[in-house]
Formats: sequence, structure tokens, C-alpha cells
Amino acid sequence: MRFDRNLTPHSPSAKERVESALREWPSIIQGGMGIAISHWPLARAVSLAGQLGVVSGTSIDSVLLRRLQDGDVGGHMRRALAASPWPDLAEQVISRYFRPDGRMPNQPYLRLPLWTLGSNRWQETLAMLGGFVEVWLAKSSHAGRVGINLLTKLALPNLAVLYGAMQANVDVVLMGAGIPREIPGALDRLADHEPASLRCEVAGMPSAESPLIRFDPRSYEGASQVPLRRPAFFPIISSYSLALLMAKKATGKVQGFVIEGPTAGGHNAPPRGPKRYDSAGQPVYDERDAVDLDAVAALGYPFWLAGGFGSPDALETARAQGAAGIQVGTLFAYCAESGMTMDLKKQAVATVRASSVAVRSDPQASPTGYPFKVADIEGTLSNQALYDARERVCDLGYLREAYLNPAGEVGFRCAAEPVNAFVSKGGRAEDTEGRKCLCNGLMATAGFPQYQSSGTVESPIVTSGDAIGQIRALLTPGSDTYSAQDVIDYLTRGRST
Ligand SMILES: Cc1cc2nc3c(=O)[nH]c(=O)nc-3n(C[C@H](O)[C@H](O)[C@H](O)COP(=O)(O)O)c2cc1C
Repeated sequence: MRFDRNLTPHSPSAKERVESALREWPSIIQGGMGIAISHWPLARAVSLAGQLGVVSGTSIDSVLLRRLQDGDVGGHMRRALAASPWPDLAEQVISRYFRPDGRMPNQPYLRLPLWTLGSNRWQETLAMLGGFVEVWLAKSSHAGRVGINLLTKLALPNLAVLYGAMQANVDVVLMGAGIPREIPGALDRLADHEPASLRCEVAGMPSAESPLIRFDPRSYEGASQVPLRRPAFFPIISSYSLALLMAKKATGKVQGFVIEGPTAGGHNAPPRGPKRYDSAGQPVYDERDAVDLDAVAALGYPFWLAGGFGSPDALETARAQGAAGIQVGTLFAYCAESGMTMDLKKQAVATVRASSVAVRSDPQASPTGYPFKVADIEGTLSNQALYDARERVCDLGYLREAYLNPAGEVGFRCAAEPVNAFVSKGGRAEDTEGRKCLCNGLMATAGFPQYQSSGTVESPIVTSGDAIGQIRALLTPGSDTYSAQDVIDYLTRGRST
């Protein structure tokens, strides 16, 4: 993707709208980073520094459970749960999962049942409370704004997480990894405590016949029925056509865009042209993937540029191109407040200092089918031999896809689950090749590795933007860490915002 045009909003009204948005919003968005890399302490630190801190809502139900089982160090989970509008449910969760002394060595975490299309009452409860807790803590004791990030494609828990986050007064919802066309309308309904639904794409079924994922806030008693504030919605997109679709054909209003290029960490949009790979097997992007920023600007919404924009010069460039600012992930992923384990952060920093960290855009790794960035860090699943030694197991299931079985029922399968199981569900064996269990890998990266019944512990996988070397600018002699405030001071060097 290239961001190489000088931008002048086309109509005065569009220009005015953008200018007023620039007065309203900060220039730096700390990108949402799952699982629990942009956890509440990071988002809070960024918001306290006057920029937009964003918590990750991905798998937040399981994250809450694991924190409770690890003894809820600092008591933050219980403090936030006690402030939730559902004290009875919160109490049930605490009595079922909180372990005052944490787990015994090698004791597996208790897990939630996997989400389905049927009744998900307990999963919904945890997702709703998880969204509430994360945002409530990120917003505690300051007046700064906080966003929540979710992946569109991992649709089953999203409505419950959003409703919980809205009960904690979340300011912005940011969603990519799919086309979040139905989210703006769902936010409108959830703000009025109305039932909301999303279509569940099912492999082998025409879109028009897709079943609905439903969530009814009114089935959870306790919360006040006073309308909630409807958060702003910023879709994360990678093309003008998607911006246009979201501006004109979404079920409700959007308030801005994050335009993310293929150098960004996490999942990336696939190339728009035919599938081509370089010698390292990475997808090749070309001019078809350049975003027409003039056209996006003419839609009249503020936008932020993401993917390799983690430098003061890049912020200047983005602003010169008409952007409200930048969304940055990688610099924040390795800062002191991020949720990545200290060991992994230190190892990444040491490697960057000594040489460079290779980041590969892996077209196979993610069961979603989107390219996924994997950083080559020792002891992590970037090492294929380590991954091959892992016994395939699917026990978190967030990345499963819905499929239609021969009996005409909707089931769920994941290309990273045991091959036999995937094939027995109508999946193709070749689609399992190179797939990685990101659920377990990313949980381990955030310090919540599962001890499997086979006696093994899950290994981490680290995702990072291509420009991981940018963290060098933040490293001072003799120190292997830096703070979120350091990142913001660096990015805004010489600027007042
Ligand atoms: C560790 C990590 C995890 C990420 N996870 C997510 C995610 O869960 N959802 C998402 O929309 N983007 C995710 N991203 C992308 C960031 O939100 C952000 O857009 C991107 O990192 C910006 O590019 P940069 O990495 O070059 O700064 C992730 C990025 C990193 C580095």
C-alpha cells in the first residue's frame, strides 16, 4: 500500500467535517492487539497520556477466566467485576474460577465451553463481563478516551463483548479482519438495550441464508435501561471500496476509518490482485493495494494510517496526506505496559539491538485464511520444528469457521485442529498444512499458556509489524525497556498533539 498523494478534501463540507474531527480526536491511536497484548494497563497508560488507548476484546472471556485462576494479582478483576451492572453474575464467575493462591504448577486452566450458534448463556456472560472489566479498568481514574478492538471474523462473542464494553462507557469501537457492515446498526441497538444480531457466514451456505448470531441485553437483568452512549465506530479497512461500502451501505453510521497497510502487525488484508508469493512464500502486494486517500478523504470522515507509521516523520507524513493521525501497534507491543510476557519482550528487544528480527507474512498460519505476521523469535512457534512437535488440539476455538454438515446442520471446524477431525467435518486435508493454533499460541504470548493433558505446555507465537526495528529509536543505553509515555513522546516530538 502506498500513501503517496497530497490530499485536499474535495468539498468544503467534507473539509469542515474532517477539521472538526481533528479537533475532537487525538492524533495517535494505540492499535488494538490481541490476545491481551493491548490489555487494560497499556490502554490506560496511552489514554492518560492524552492519546487513544485501545483494549483488545478478542478472547477476553478466556482472558478474564485465566486471570482469576492465576489469583487475580492486584485484585483488579474482582474490583472491576464488583462495579459491573450484573453483581450476581459476577459473583458466580468469581466463586467458580477465582483461585486465591493461583494454580498449582502444571495445573491446566479451566476452560469455557466452546461457543456455538445455540445457547451460549455462560460464554455470553463471561464475554459481557470481560468486555466490561477491560474497558472499566482502562478508563479508571481519568477522563481520557478508550477504545475496544475486535476481529469481525471471530463473530460469535462480539455482541456480548460490545455490550459489556458499552456498559463501561467505551468511547470507540475499532474492527477489521472482515467487513463489519452490521456493527454500526448493532451498536445503535445495543445502546438502547435492544436485541442485536449478526449474520454468521457458513461455508457451503449462500450468504442470504446465513443464520443469525443473536444477543439480547434484556435477558440479563440488573443493568439500568437508561440508554447507553453509543460509541464511535472506526472500521479498519485497506481499500477505498471498503470505506465507501462502510460509509454508504453499513447498517448505521461510522465516525472514522483506520486505513491499514500490509506491513502492519497481526492479520493483514490479502492482496487484491491474483495470488502471488515471493521467494519466502509471502503474499505479494502491488499497485492494486494502494489506497486512494483523496477518495477516502472526500467521504468526509477522519482517518488514521496504520502499518509502519511508528515514527515522528511518519506522523508528519500522514498529517500532510490529510490523515487525522496514525495507528501504531508494534512500538507499543514491546513497551513496559503491554501484556506480552516480560521474557518475550526482553528477547525481542535484545534481538533487535544485536541484529534484526525477521518478520514473515505467513499466508497459511492463521485459520482465518488472512495473512498473519509472525516474528522470528527463539522459543516461539515461528520455529516450524517446535510447532510440528505440538499435538494438534482445538480447545479455545475462537478461529473456527462455521460449516454446513451433510445433515444440514451448522457445525464448527478449525484448520488447525487435529487433521482427522477437520477432514471428518468436510474440510480438506491440504487446508490444514501450515496452519497454527493462534488461540493457544497467542494466549501463551500474553502469559496464559495452557497445560495440555498430553503433559505439554503451549508455546507462544509473536506477531509484529514489519517495522519492528523502529523500536531501536526508543532504546536507551543499558535499558531494555521503555514506557507507553516514551512512545508517545517520541512520536509527537516537536508537536503539541
Ligand atoms: C502484537 C500485535 C497484535 C495485533 N493484534 C491485532 C488485533 O487483535 N486486532 C487488530 O485489528 N489489529 C491488530 N494488530 C494491528 C495493530 O492494531 C496496528 O494496526 C498495527 O500494528 C499498526 O502497524 P505497526 O505494527 O506497523 O505499528 C496487532 C499488531 C500487533 C503488533
